[in-house]
Amino acid sequence: MKKFLTLPLAFLFCTSACLLSCGNKTSSSINPNGDSALALLMRDMHEDGLHTKQQLLNGGDIEVNVKYHELQTAEATEPEKVASQTYKSFATYYEATVQSLIESNDSNKAEAYQTMVDACMQCHEQVCPGPMRKIKRLYLSEAELASLDTK
Ligand code: HEC
Repeated sequence: MKKFLTLPLAFLFCTSACLLSCGNKTSSSINPNGDSALALLMRDMHEDGLHTKQQLLNGGDIEVNVKYHELQTAEATEPEKVASQTYKSFATYYEATVQSLIESNDSNKAEAYQTMVDACMQCHEQVCPGPMRKIKRLYLSEAELASLDTK
């Protein structure tokens, strides 16, 4: 019985792990139990994004709590990836979009929020496509944007 369960379970584990990771399946240095500081920061950024989205939909003030400027220094699963100029440029751009979101006002905060999600997506497209499906869900939909317009 045990034998029959192991295979599908291993398969399930791999599909979810592979979807969430940056897709470097050959790297044996990744410890499945020891997530990098950057991976943990990214999860916080995702949670914070969901929270901001909800605040926007509720029509209240928005707050950004995540330590987003640690993006440039947090230790990554694959350090060579974040050492690249490409990563640094995207990180700087992302920080600027968070700054604009913090400074936005009622008339442009939804737009500033969408631009910030764009910045997540752009970096991920280049350096870490795995989580893009998850990040995409942070976008405000057309219907949600329309409902904000009438507020
Ligand atoms: C400058 C590039 C860059 C930006 C901007 C960026 N990411 Fe990431 N993201 C990465 C890299 C690189 C990793 C892999 C981290 C690791 O494994 O050490 C990652 C990992 C992730 C993960 C997977 C974490 C895990 O559980 O292993 C999620 C989810 C994520 N990012 C969401 C986001 C969200 C949401 C945003 C915007 C609010 C964002 N990212 C912005 C580069 C970026």
